Amino acid sequence: MTQVTREHFGENVEKWTLQTPQVSAEILTLGCVIKSVSCQSKDGQVDDVVLGYDHLEGYVADRRYFGALVGRVANRIAGGRCVLEGTELRLDVNNGPNTLHGGLIGFNKAVWHAEPVNGGVCLSHVSPDGDRGFPGELHVSITYRLQGETLTANYEAQTTKTTPINLSNHSYFNLAGQGTADIYDHEVSINAQSYLPVDDTMIPTGEVRAVEGTPFDLRKAVLIGPRLKEVPGPGFDHTFCLASPGDPWKERHTARVCHPPSGRVLEVSTSQPGVQFYTANFLDGSLSGKAGVRYGPHSAFCLETQNWPDAVNKASFPDSLLRPGEKYQHVTHYTFTTI
Ligand code: GLA
Repeated sequence: MTQVTREHFGENVEKWTLQTPQVSAEILTLGCVIKSVSCQSKDGQVDDVVLGYDHLEGYVADRRYFGALVGRVANRIAGGRCVLEGTELRLDVNNGPNTLHGGLIGFNKAVWHAEPVNGGVCLSHVSPDGDRGFPGELHVSITYRLQGETLTANYEAQTTKTTPINLSNHSYFNLAGQGTADIYDHEVSINAQSYLPVDDTMIPTGEVRAVEGTPFDLRKAVLIGPRLKEVPGPGFDHTFCLASPGDPWKERHTARVCHPPSGRVLEVSTSQPGVQFYTANFLDGSLSGKAGVRYGPHSAFCLETQNWPDAVNKASFPDSLLRPGEKYQHVTHYTFTTI
């Protein structure tokens, strides 16, 4: 049995709480943010395992996408442009030379309309034709449901004109409890045979490289701390391929992260063809999060289930276009248990 309650969180924003005996999750109508996920350790200690802010102002000013739904196109589009049915789209350039997470004002900054559903909340938004350069009026919704220890996110969208689309959630997890300095004692496995190497602006080169024999081989659980030292650059910020282009829509077991000291385990499964594994490399201690904690590099991990970045400019990547009459539909499950 899931309890669903709502309350005001600032003037125009609501906070919805979904609660079962195992897990409690708070969702904001601003950006569909997952504000908190509280769950027990193996010794029965309840902690919040996602990073974020105590107050609305934090989320309004946030530039790190804490907990938010990202769109219309999550991740990067090279050079802030693409050609769609013969027409060039010019998009916001907000990350080096590229578009990141929908541009200057993404879906994470919209206040969504919320309705209760059985065991959860459905949030919907209409993105107008031409929004940040993207064509078509897009009707988009996400339904969060909590059942036992599993939080489910169901994404749906329909458009009036062909548009690229890629919706994801950008929660930062630390299974030791948010505010813990790093994730070095977490063990991670990602069920991917290949990953996408990137150029120096973080755009995939187009190569789909086997993980075998590389630091990106996470098929068997590895301790993150030592493995981070083997990865080139500041840490993981890479797409792992879960499905090949043209593979049928199917939900797949994606990743498992375990924090042995607390016994907490997060398991993720998704219908999306990829997952961006990001180890919070860009958190630098400058922003002040929940209870004033300064979040540093590697103080969390993200498992952003999504399509492959820059797919709209790469014919060999999974299709990222939504056409009129089609329905965009994806699901991601997050399960919080203990060993
Ligand atoms: C994604 C990107 C990262 C970074 C974060 C937000 O994970 O891949 O490079 O931009 O979002 O800070």
